[in-house]
Amino acid sequence: MANKLIVETKNLTKVYDSTTAVDNLNLHIEEGDLFGFLGPNGAGKTTTILMLLGLTEPTSGSVNVAGYDSTREPLKVKSIAGYVPEKVGFYESLTASYNLAYIARLNNLPEDVVKKRVAETLEIVGLADKAEQPVGEFSKGMKQRLAFADILIKNPRVAILDEPTSGIDPEGINQLLDLIAKIAKERKMTVIMSSHQLHQVQRICNQIGIMVRGRLLVKGSPNQLGKDSLGGSQFKIELQLTEITQGIIDAINRVKDVISVDRMENRLLVGCSKDLRPQIARAIVEANGLLVEMKIQSYALEDIYLKYFKEA
Ligand SMILES: Nc1ncnc2c1ncn2[C@@H]1O[C@H](COP(=O)(O)OP(=O)(O)OP(=O)(O)O)[C@@H](O)[C@H]1O
Ligand SMILES: [Mg+2]
Repeated sequence: MANKLIVETKNLTKVYDSTTAVDNLNLHIEEGDLFGFLGPNGAGKTTTILMLLGLTEPTSGSVNVAGYDSTREPLKVKSIAGYVPEKVGFYESLTASYNLAYIARLNNLPEDVVKKRVAETLEIVGLADKAEQPVGEFSKGMKQRLAFADILIKNPRVAILDEPTSGIDPEGINQLLDLIAKIAKERKMTVIMSSHQLHQVQRICNQIGIMVRGRLLVKGSPNQLGKDSLGGSQFKIELQLTEITQGIIDAINRVKDVISVDRMENRLLVGCSKDLRPQIARAIVEANGLLVEMKIQSYALEDIYLKYFKEA
């Protein structure tokens, strides 16, 4: 059964001077979703987020978050939503715990619980040992985690994160994404997260929307989007062999659920709908092949993402 809608926009449009930043957007997000909002620079992601939060007015159309009209009732939306903007700002000379306590008070947390909640929240985001350090000394990744703490302290129904991973190193990105996913699950919190990077949203999101030039081109689960593209391939397994023979190619083609086998110089690219690494490895050995390396990637979605970008 479908969950309750927490975000619903109808023909939502925003025109700045001559630019249509958001063009007749009809977006549906269900409560509890981890929604990855993908798109290149200038696609309209931030503009959409600002309209969801009632921070900028639509030119036309409507936007509803948790049953509130964001344009008419922005304070209601603000009370249930947590927002991390593209550029996070703190009092840089003050400590992490001071910054967080300030946010807690702004959100009307009773004074007797502020201290405890600040300590707990810093612990959750892995900054407990940095609590008394000035935020100006924090790395980008630490600042993003503190920004996430800012919204956790409020315990919102919806967390809206505008490019939470920008400027962080790959390991820090994975840690932050895993943290977001864990908290979302524990608290049954809806997450809307914008990004340029497909693999980042694929890591945690159960729904992905791809926006280009103000329009939502596709929306669905990563699996569904993968299935709809490239004749059903969701995985590409890349093989390196000491030698490639027709016998080996035939043997791989005979493995059940293999969709395509393409040769690229000394490599083979196998398209399939499942992770068939064990079956493919066995087929190669049985065809007297010697496997040097085997890599798997869910390329198909990457392919449609790039394809849509080119077509837009
Ligand atoms: N305040 C503004 N005034 C005029 N044009 C704007 C304004 N804000 C955004 N735009 C334009 O609207 C379009 C969408 O911008 P937006 O910031 O929403 O994109 P984005 O998807 O968030 O991009 P990025 O990935 O770079 O953050 C762009 O063409 C941008 O130049
Ligand atoms: Mg943006």
